[in-house]
Amino acid sequence: MKHHSIKQIAINTGGGDAPGLNAVLRATVVSAVNRGWQCYGIRDGYNGLLEPKQYPEGGLIPLPKSKVRGITHLGGTILGTTNKGNPLKWPVKGRDGKMYEVDRTDELIKAFKKNKIDALVAIGGDGSLSIANVLAQKGLRVVGVPKTIDNDLDKTVITFGFDSAVSFATSCIDRLHSTAEAHQRVMIVEVMGRYAGWIALNSGVSGTADAILIPEIPYDIQKVAKKIEERWKIGAKFAIVVVAEGAKSKGGDVSVISKEVGRAERLGGAGEQVAKEIQEITGKETRCVVLGHLLRGGTPTTFDRLVSLRFGAAAIRALAEGQSGVMVALDPPTVRYIPLIEATNRMKSVPLDCDTILTARDLGICFGD
Ligand code: F6P
Repeated sequence: MKHHSIKQIAINTGGGDAPGLNAVLRATVVSAVNRGWQCYGIRDGYNGLLEPKQYPEGGLIPLPKSKVRGITHLGGTILGTTNKGNPLKWPVKGRDGKMYEVDRTDELIKAFKKNKIDALVAIGGDGSLSIANVLAQKGLRVVGVPKTIDNDLDKTVITFGFDSAVSFATSCIDRLHSTAEAHQRVMIVEVMGRYAGWIALNSGVSGTADAILIPEIPYDIQKVAKKIEERWKIGAKFAIVVVAEGAKSKGGDVSVISKEVGRAERLGGAGEQVAKEIQEITGKETRCVVLGHLLRGGTPTTFDRLVSLRFGAAAIRALAEGQSGVMVALDPPTVRYIPLIEATNRMKSVPLDCDTILTARDLGICFGD
């Protein structure tokens, strides 16, 4: 299909925030404005377009260069984000008082047309990019940018936000070593990551954990307890266990806090469960620290800043080249365009034969298997 030239684009940030969102926004806006395009930001995912009345100051806000000045290093997103506004699964109350999910993407396409938006840069994780894919199939020009601290998106070597989360988790684990040793305790550190173990694995290996429990390797708590007993036997009377929030025991289930209509299920409690069982089996004092949303805050690392700026600029190059329905993806030394459908087809789990797992095993780290 031959597209008319671009005059105005919209940008949005969806799903959980991640360090680097503002850097992507800056690179996108500056690269677009330098091509003579006008930029608009959609507030809170797609809510600014779907629920404009909630935004007296405008659900679609102009983004001149001045709006993105000095934001590269800032956490969060100047546009706001949400994981309650999925237009494919919008929650509505039925006549029976129950909540149902409805598809509002046709309405959204109309809103883009009404506002004379020629293209969209959608910055988000698997959920947001699946929405972007549907919008592209319905005729909107869309380029996606892969964001998530979880690093669980396929077809890109890395997502932005992941490096910052891992760096922070690693420095937290570093800090826990001294208090664990001083009190001769077992410290359990629960980290985010949803159904993938990337954050737990990379921070656990970097922070010298004794055991790392990830969703990809269901664990046997007795094996973890044995590893801890061994630590005491060799005179190292403390232990650090990193637990991914999505970790589960052999034959067990992921620990879910809640499931609401129109939202992804909330995970949590995996670390506490491991702590309770380890204390029961070993008799050693065990404490659990949940890093949770701390992993999503703060300034992006240099790596995340650079990759975010590269992704933002590449998204605009992709649109300028006439691309649509693609995601920018890191494939060193370059950034490629991958069809959105391929990127969102499957979740990227930790491969069991990847060299970080092999390295961990060579270093004597226990996975509970
Ligand atoms: O996908 C990013 C993430 O931080 C996950 O690691 C975590 O499970 C989830 O979002 C938490 O979401 P919320 O902020 O809605 O609790």
